[in-house]
Amino acid sequence: MKPINVLILAAGLGTRMRSDRAKVLHRLGSRPLIAHALRTAARLDPASIVVVVGHQAEDVMEASREALDGEMSARLRFVHQAEQKGTGHAVKCAADELSSTPGLLVVCYGDTPLVRAETLQKLIDEHERGGHSATLLTIRLDNPPAYGRIIRDEEGRFRRIIEDRDCTPEQRAITEINPGFYCFDIPTLLPALDRLSPQNAQGEYYLTDVPEHLLSAGLGVGTVEHDDPHELEGINNRVELAAMWKRLRQETLRRLMLDGVTIVDPDSTYIDDGVEIGRDSIIHPQVVIEGRSRIGSGCEIGSWSHLTDADIGDECRLLNGCVITGSRLAGKNTVGPYAHLRMNTTLEPEAVVGNFVEVKKSTLGRDTKAMHLSYLGDATIGERVNIGAATVTCNYDGVRKNPTIIEDDVRIGSDTMLVAPVRVGRGATTGAGAVVIRDVPPKSLAVGVPARVIRQGE
Ligand code: UD1
Ligand code: CA
Repeated sequence: MKPINVLILAAGLGTRMRSDRAKVLHRLGSRPLIAHALRTAARLDPASIVVVVGHQAEDVMEASREALDGEMSARLRFVHQAEQKGTGHAVKCAADELSSTPGLLVVCYGDTPLVRAETLQKLIDEHERGGHSATLLTIRLDNPPAYGRIIRDEEGRFRRIIEDRDCTPEQRAITEINPGFYCFDIPTLLPALDRLSPQNAQGEYYLTDVPEHLLSAGLGVGTVEHDDPHELEGINNRVELAAMWKRLRQETLRRLMLDGVTIVDPDSTYIDDGVEIGRDSIIHPQVVIEGRSRIGSGCEIGSWSHLTDADIGDECRLLNGCVITGSRLAGKNTVGPYAHLRMNTTLEPEAVVGNFVEVKKSTLGRDTKAMHLSYLGDATIGERVNIGAATVTCNYDGVRKNPTIIEDDVRIGSDTMLVAPVRVGRGATTGAGAVVIRDVPPKSLAVGVPARVIRQGE
């Protein structure tokens, strides 16, 4: 087995996206297009992954590094293609980087996110089995759009690829096309790149001309016909992006349902590809679950809830309309309806957050309840605490965000203003409407505006 290397072309702007952002940075499901291509490449366990960058190179490089874990990220390299003179030119830009690299080069485009590693492996296997110097995937489409056509001789042997815009009407009628996945032997690829010329309809150096140069040099070119066209589709515009995103969602929902999750209305449920959900959880209509979210088993997620990077433990109930971002529910929690948890909020087991409550960067201890109309920010709240309706942690003094600490077994009266930084000691109580500007000692009762301690703890 020769060592495998992967080259991903991602220098183009993607004019038909009509965007100021490079095409490969557009999101499909939980991650940008380039990340899909990279994660698939990583599954081949390649010796190196080289990405050709051009438009918004810095952002594409950053998105690429983020897509891979540390070990694979160390095998990632970038080459710059300052001016996009075609896919053949893009590969040539990597020639210096590759000249000392032994083995095989799998080339694919950064805008074909759904291809599976198994399919690329099949390409590699045929390449090695046949001893070819290049091997390409092909696919048959009834009315192929602007793809390169596969030209074969009378015996059915591969001869060359002709780009759609360079085709005669007869050639354009050919239904076998080039979806853009190649395997090359690096030592024979590099000299063939030098023979490319831009004498074609687009005035570009076409990678697709390489196979015929290899054939004319007496080398072998193989093909592998694939049968799932959706898997190999590229994104050219936002209509195609939306259609692919929808298919990806459908696959995700199918996977989750087969794994034991009830999705009441798959047509109105939007769950990102990476999301994990445990058995016997129920997802009601019109729920969105995005990013690196994880939901345990036996949970129920109410309609109109929107979860992003949420970590939800087992047996949690989210009533309608919860927005949870970057936060954790440890288990057996009830939240909502219409609650907002964000920025590293943690609910310890059995903590309850109720109607119209916002919780930011705070922890609620076991069995603590904030049932109605409150704002809790930068607060650390102990166990068995009751937060009365309309309590506010006044955490912002105009300059800084200040912490509030509420110890175990505290009862905060309705409409208490906790002017931070402030601490309410274990077992203390605040009266309704108290404005707490000083620490409240344990087990005492503080009331009024500003709050005064009227009963000390025993
Ligand atoms: C290419 C193929 C075509 C195939 C189709 C499949 C060529 C000449 N044609 O056409 O046979 O049917 O893909 O989708 O290869 N890129 C660069 N630098 C460049 C040019 C392109 O990095 O100078 C990147 C783009 O960012 C893009 C990819 O290569 O991700 C494909 O380029 P694109 O111009 O879209 O090629 P197609 O015309 O689709
Ligand atoms: Ca394309």
